[in-house]
Amino acid sequence: CGIVGYVGSQQAAPILLEGLTRLEHRGYDSAGVAVLGGSGVRVGKRAGRVRDLSEALPKRFSGKLGIGHTRWATHGPATDANAHPHTDVDGRVAVVHNGIIDNASTLRAALTDAGVELASDTDTEVVAHLVARSDADTLEGKVRDALASVEGTYGLAVVHADFPDRMVVARNGSPLIVGVGGGEMYVASDLAALVRHTTTVAHLEDGELATVTATGFTTMRRDLTATHREAAPLDIDPAAFDAGEHASYMLKEILEQPDSAERVLRGRLVERFGTAHLGGLNLDARETRAISRVKILGCGSAYYVGQMGASLIEELARIPADAEAASEFRYRNPIIEPDTLYVAVSQSGETVDTLLAVQEIRRKGGRVIGLVNVVGSAIARECDGGIYLHAGPEVAVASTKALTTMFLGFSLLALQLGRVRDLSIADGRRLIEGLQRIPDHIRQILGHDDEYATIAKQLAEAESLFFVGRVRGYPVAREGAQKFKEISYRHAEAYQTSELKHGPLALIEASVPTVAIVPDDELADRNVAALHEIAARGGPLVVVTHATVDLGDLTATRIDVPACERELDPILLTLPLQLLAYHAALHLGHDIDKPRNLAKSVTVE
Ligand code: G6P
Repeated sequence: CGIVGYVGSQQAAPILLEGLTRLEHRGYDSAGVAVLGGSGVRVGKRAGRVRDLSEALPKRFSGKLGIGHTRWATHGPATDANAHPHTDVDGRVAVVHNGIIDNASTLRAALTDAGVELASDTDTEVVAHLVARSDADTLEGKVRDALASVEGTYGLAVVHADFPDRMVVARNGSPLIVGVGGGEMYVASDLAALVRHTTTVAHLEDGELATVTATGFTTMRRDLTATHREAAPLDIDPAAFDAGEHASYMLKEILEQPDSAERVLRGRLVERFGTAHLGGLNLDARETRAISRVKILGCGSAYYVGQMGASLIEELARIPADAEAASEFRYRNPIIEPDTLYVAVSQSGETVDTLLAVQEIRRKGGRVIGLVNVVGSAIARECDGGIYLHAGPEVAVASTKALTTMFLGFSLLALQLGRVRDLSIADGRRLIEGLQRIPDHIRQILGHDDEYATIAKQLAEAESLFFVGRVRGYPVAREGAQKFKEISYRHAEAYQTSELKHGPLALIEASVPTVAIVPDDELADRNVAALHEIAARGGPLVVVTHATVDLGDLTATRIDVPACERELDPILLTLPLQLLAYHAALHLGHDIDKPRNLAKSVTVE
């Protein structure tokens, strides 16, 4: 979900709506704004996109202070009533909220018992009633009183008709940023909504509140004692947050991959010693040698790239490594070992499942490093050290350039761990040369876009597809299937090529294509043999492979990617799959950047 707020000398509504369009990737089930004007608090909200809200808002929606929200539904369906902002019974208080209030049902029941008629199914609404019912004489006091009975996570913003010069915002587990303008102030859950107005910002800490007026802001703890947080200028390019001339953010981000690959490697390769230099890891040679296992945690695409990372670490550093969905890890009371290196991987640095896994590990004394894109994000701050990915802002829900940098980040980590342990200098240098070639290889692959578009159109006709690969190729297949299903809404299932004959082969027929990942490695012949089993059942085949792989008389459409060092194959094999998914979705007429039911960062469990 996304939050924006404005207070200053301009009309708030247009600024809020523009801010919301910048946050739509965070959730797009519904949108709403509340503006404080001469006649008190006015709310406009509805299910659907921000543009639907803009069209529905009355022309005169005046007021120079307001808050807005774009929602990814958790409690209650995407209806007008469940859209934020939520208000109290008299409509004098309006609240927008990200996160989850864990004791919402208890609070809702208590309010109902007290005679309050609730207008929505949401957890957030209780906050508006609690603020209204507090008898504190300041807005800060009312918010403090309301939050005293709230358990859970929140980033929230509150306005109140009795306090027309201010909004009060609070953070607990869900980001909130205050932006400083000249005679006007902004609030947002994400920099994307602010950068066009200001790059001088303050990030609230968990447990902090802020009062924001047109002339400035003050921060305080939940008990209202001051914290004196100050805003500082950020070194970012606002243009990086725009799609520019591209039809979608996803396409823009796919095309940026050669550059982001260069950025993540820059300054981190030490050719002379055949190793990587990762200053942020905070791991010395003795600690590195003591690592007996590596456990990688992430969600969605970050989890799949984590699997790729685990094989890199096993191959190069010869340390047992595996990846697990962070969302599952925490719930099986995992054994946290002191000599295991835990690695959290996340583009946003906000995914709550990953964040909670990190917190659980640290609570039990484990050591966690982060592979994170967003600098200063919750996961980055929570970790003991890490590798920033430098992918730049990623907006499309389907992750592309962040994923490439994650893979390269893992390559650097594996190289550094390997060189302190088992890897020879010659192998280290060989990998460095391979890594240096990656940006050019990516450029080369992206140059075949037309070819992928043709293949994608054929694949898009199928209701159901398989993506298969084995060993290094299996996480590639998983990521390929994920990308394809996310944005084309076709059923795409990943399988180990070797396991096909143990079940899924039953589904193969002429209408069920298979995309097979067949790198030129020691398994290539076996892979090709398995593909014959598919072809024999009439299953159409697209094979993502290297030019040196002999497919013999197999009937298949082939996509050749440039050969690199074998360990680095997975990322190059992944790239055509991004474009297959992209073109399939484009062909089917779907919203590329905002696939249904999803959101870019899932900040709830
Ligand atoms: C969401 C997105 C996925 C993403 C995952 C992890 O589910 O829809 O595209 O891979 O979160 O996000 P993170 O920001 O932690 O990498």
